[in-house]
Amino acid sequence: MATTLLLGQTLSFDDNPFTAGLGAVRHHSTGAILLRDGMIVEVGDASDLRARHVDCTVVDHGDALLIAGFVDSHVHYPQTGIIASWGKRLIDWLETYTFPEEMRFGDADHAQLIAGMYFDFSLANGITSAASFCTIHPESVDAYFTAAQARGMRMIGGKVMMDRNAPEGLRDTAQTGYDQSKALLEKWHGVDRLGYAITPRFAPTSTPAQLQAAGALWAESPTCAMQTHLSEQREEIQWMKELYPDHPDYLSVYEQYGLTGAGAIMGHSIYLTEREITALAATGSGVAHCPTSNTFIGSGLCDVRGLMQRGIPIGLATDVGGGSSFSMLRTMAAAYEVGQLRGDSLHAAELLWLATQGAADTLRIGDKVGNLVAGREADITVLDLSSTPVIAQRAARADDIWGALFPTIMLGDDRAVRQVYVAGRPMMPAKGHQMLPD
Ligand code: GUN
Ligand code: ZN
Repeated sequence: MATTLLLGQTLSFDDNPFTAGLGAVRHHSTGAILLRDGMIVEVGDASDLRARHVDCTVVDHGDALLIAGFVDSHVHYPQTGIIASWGKRLIDWLETYTFPEEMRFGDADHAQLIAGMYFDFSLANGITSAASFCTIHPESVDAYFTAAQARGMRMIGGKVMMDRNAPEGLRDTAQTGYDQSKALLEKWHGVDRLGYAITPRFAPTSTPAQLQAAGALWAESPTCAMQTHLSEQREEIQWMKELYPDHPDYLSVYEQYGLTGAGAIMGHSIYLTEREITALAATGSGVAHCPTSNTFIGSGLCDVRGLMQRGIPIGLATDVGGGSSFSMLRTMAAAYEVGQLRGDSLHAAELLWLATQGAADTLRIGDKVGNLVAGREADITVLDLSSTPVIAQRAARADDIWGALFPTIMLGDDRAVRQVYVAGRPMMPAKGHQMLPD
């Protein structure tokens, strides 16, 4: 059986550093990862593994850092083309930029083109798994899963359900939203490494009847994920209150229709009441932290540590195209900056957890990906910790792995991603960032 030994520095987690501290992180400065059939078989010290496994292909990444592939817990692949659109806040940003672009995804050729770009950009940034919103069009879901399947990736996605407060041509109905979502989940959920997410966009764009249908579908297919948005902007919360006047708070709308629980991924979750935090924790619902989006569209500062301390699963997310970067390094830097504005300095280990195992747990794929440990799928990102002169000169002063990694978190981008393995398969050619879909 063909085995491969990857050499480099390695970082993995024995436990969550938010709760267990830095002792929960395992670092090998001369490490090795043994891969077989797309799985991680062993992680340890290079000299030990080399001595015991003489008969395998060796790929030496020098002093680069091998980490689990990044997991993006909330993204909109159809918004790839409108990333970095100027000057709006959530509701007028949706109307001005997002809805016109999403309207185009009824065209299967457009959906396929953008899906291909999305996967190339994500892989170039070391992202090996994500949960993405598609659009209301089934074609957008087929394009997404087809592209993910061609690349062998563990990806989650789903058709947006939206039956009000969206333009003509971008609305389904409670019944068609249910029927199309059901057909798509029967087609894609559990196929290869793909998983379906029931995807009501957010309370303001669904009638109660549609949320009810979404909840019914999730009850019928409980191994699916469920993704939506929660308490992102103050104007949005005000709008939700006008549409759902009988509810005490935003989360109670989702609770009423069976849209909370393990596998629920609540994007943003910035302005939560104590009752909502308690309910998220009690139901096992997860949160996607979207720091570049929350600053770019001017939403606010999510209390990541506070939610983590309450036992709520929480992961990092790009939220492209409200989010302003495909880079999980840039997204970690934004999470650090948001923490600073809250008076809370997130450690590099905590940022890395949020971008890997924390996000994987939020998506309920944390037993398969998110960490470099035996038995996980071999999704691995290789980081060059000296990818630019500025980073290199700063990292050269480092006393330990955290000092060496933090400059890449704060200053790095896709140039720092030297290689990315999907189920043990290298996705980048030796030089440059041209992707290899099959
Ligand atoms: N709320 C509802 N839809 C969206 C979206 O597409 N992006 C963001 N950031 N928030 C939303
Ligand atoms: Zn979003």
